[in-house]
Amino acid sequence: MNCKIALIRGDGIGPEVVNEAVNVLNAIADKYGHRIEYVDVLMGGCATDAVGVSYPEGTAEKCKSCDAVLLGAVGGPKWGADKPSEQRPETALLAIRKDLGLYANLRPAVLRPAMADACPLKKETAEKGIDLMMVRELTGGVYFGKRNKYQTEDRGIEATDLMAYSEKEIERIGRRAFELARLRRGKVSSVDKANVLETSRLWRSVMHKLVQEYSDVAYEDVLVDNCAMQIVREPGQFDVLVTENMFGDILSDEASMVTGSIGLLPSASIGDSAPGLYEPIHGSAPDIAGQDKANPIATILSVAMMFRYSFHLFREADTIEAAVDAVLADGVRTPDIAHPGEKTVGTREMGRLIREKIKAM
Ligand code: IPM
Ligand code: MG
Repeated sequence: MNCKIALIRGDGIGPEVVNEAVNVLNAIADKYGHRIEYVDVLMGGCATDAVGVSYPEGTAEKCKSCDAVLLGAVGGPKWGADKPSEQRPETALLAIRKDLGLYANLRPAVLRPAMADACPLKKETAEKGIDLMMVRELTGGVYFGKRNKYQTEDRGIEATDLMAYSEKEIERIGRRAFELARLRRGKVSSVDKANVLETSRLWRSVMHKLVQEYSDVAYEDVLVDNCAMQIVREPGQFDVLVTENMFGDILSDEASMVTGSIGLLPSASIGDSAPGLYEPIHGSAPDIAGQDKANPIATILSVAMMFRYSFHLFREADTIEAAVDAVLADGVRTPDIAHPGEKTVGTREMGRLIREKIKAM
């Protein structure tokens, strides 16, 4: 395969973890005879510092000229909520999702075998395993609805954020969830708040139509508050969870925590045609930036997702995941996943050991 990958190294620990992921990409390319070209794309707080805005003109076009996008992390206190929106890294993140049409955000939460004791839940619960896929709608809902802030006569200032969903938006994310479930354990849990919200009632009715078409997949409706509770009570019951943008934002953080380390979890954001975007779930961790302390595994596993979902190269994806599992099984730990007093390695050494496994496989 010949391909071109856009690299958004971003802020904080972003550049360090992307470096290790690129080294893994190159190791895979060597092993299986691929040619990969890289294009650096400036976006995030670093872009604000360099050119005054977090999402410079042409960012989307540059990404669209590539086959996939790898993002480290963007954001940091330096470009906080007090800054104008065009300078904030979050603005860039939402813009790129919309501009590339990345409506499906896949966030797997997996308790890796060697990490079972990192699970903060009861031992009996952890022993049942966790392997769920959060499918979050990413380009609609309250994140992109009309916002307003105005003075009232008697209640002071009032603000509104509109949550809107169309049948079309719900159907396309629903289809993604059902298709994924077919490749996994064959179960979809659709999360909504249909006892209160009109958008949720529409969501549910569209999902129920899809159930007819995907009758081989088991299906359930789950109310979002109950879902939040079930994720800590018994996460092993879930296979694919599908939900709207803000519920997905909240639940995916919760799901990542029950696996014990957010530093291990990758994500993929995909649409129908444009390049998919792959990034670790964790943020830019400015407090440890530049110190060779960050865990590169989530970004490296994001590369595995890239091979699987953008390039449909399953052997390459499996090799990366197996190499990560092998290194963890050897007891190698970065500080974020180590027990107190345990010996740890840095970002670069973790990357090197994973590459060694890849070569040896
Ligand atoms: C995420 C993040 C973003 C979101 C923020 C940084 C805008 O929390 O990717 O989950 O809310 O989508
Ligand atoms: Mg979030």
